[in-house]
Amino acid sequence: MSISTEVQPLLINYKTLEEFKRFKEYGLQELTMLEDLQSNIVENNSESPFFGIYIGNAMIARMSLYRISAKYDNYFNPPQDYLELWKLEVLKDYQGKGYGKQLVDFAKSYHLPIKTNPRINSHGFWERLGFQKATYNMERDRGENPLLWLPEGVDEQPKEDS
Ligand SMILES: CC(C)(COP(=O)(O)OP(=O)(O)OC[C@H]1O[C@@H](n2cnc3c(N)ncnc32)[C@H](O)[C@@H]1OP(=O)(O)O)[C@@H](O)C(=O)NCCC(=O)NCCS
Repeated sequence: MSISTEVQPLLINYKTLEEFKRFKEYGLQELTMLEDLQSNIVENNSESPFFGIYIGNAMIARMSLYRISAKYDNYFNPPQDYLELWKLEVLKDYQGKGYGKQLVDFAKSYHLPIKTNPRINSHGFWERLGFQKATYNMERDRGENPLLWLPEGVDEQPKEDS
C-alpha cells in the first residue's frame, strides 16, 4: 500500500497544537497560538503559517512559512515579496528520508526568494538544497546568520555603504 505524504497547510486547532508538542522547537509561538485558541482570540480551525506532512494520523514534519511584503525586503535584488521559513523539523525517526527536502521544495514552488535562519548543524542540508549564506550585514542581521535561496533572475541586495 502506498501512503500519500503530501505537504498540507495546518489549521490552528487543539489536535495540531497537541502534535506540535512532539517537536523540539516547541516554544513561545505555539504557546501563544494555544492561548489565543483558548481565549477565542483565534477561531478553531483558522489558518496558521505552518505546513506539515502526515503519515496516517501523525504529523512527522513541519515548517512555518510566512510571506513578507516587498516593502520590508532588505535581502533581495530587485526588492520583492519573499518567504521567511522557520521551524523546519522532521521527527527523529523520519529524518533522512526526504521529508525535509519535500517541505523545502514545497516552499520553493512559490517561485519567491526564501530566507531562513538555520539551526546549528543543519548547514549541510541547506547547502544541499541550494541555499547560500547572506553577506553578513550587522545592522540588518544582528547575530542572525541568514541563509538565502535565490530563484533565477534574483540576486542578493548589495550592501549599502554606511
Ligand atoms: C535538518 C532536517 C530538517 C533535514 O530533514 P531530513 O528529512 O532529515 O532531510 P532529507 O532526507 O530531506 O535530506 C535531503 C538531502 O539533504 C541531505 N542532508 C540532510 N541532512 C544533512 C546534513 N545535516 N548535512 C548534510 N546533508 C544533509 C540528505 O542527505 C539529502 O541529500 P540527497 O538529496 O543527496 O539524498 C531534519 O533532519 C531535522 O529536523 N533535524 C532536526 C535536528 C537538526 O536540526 N539536525 C541538524 C542535522 S544533524
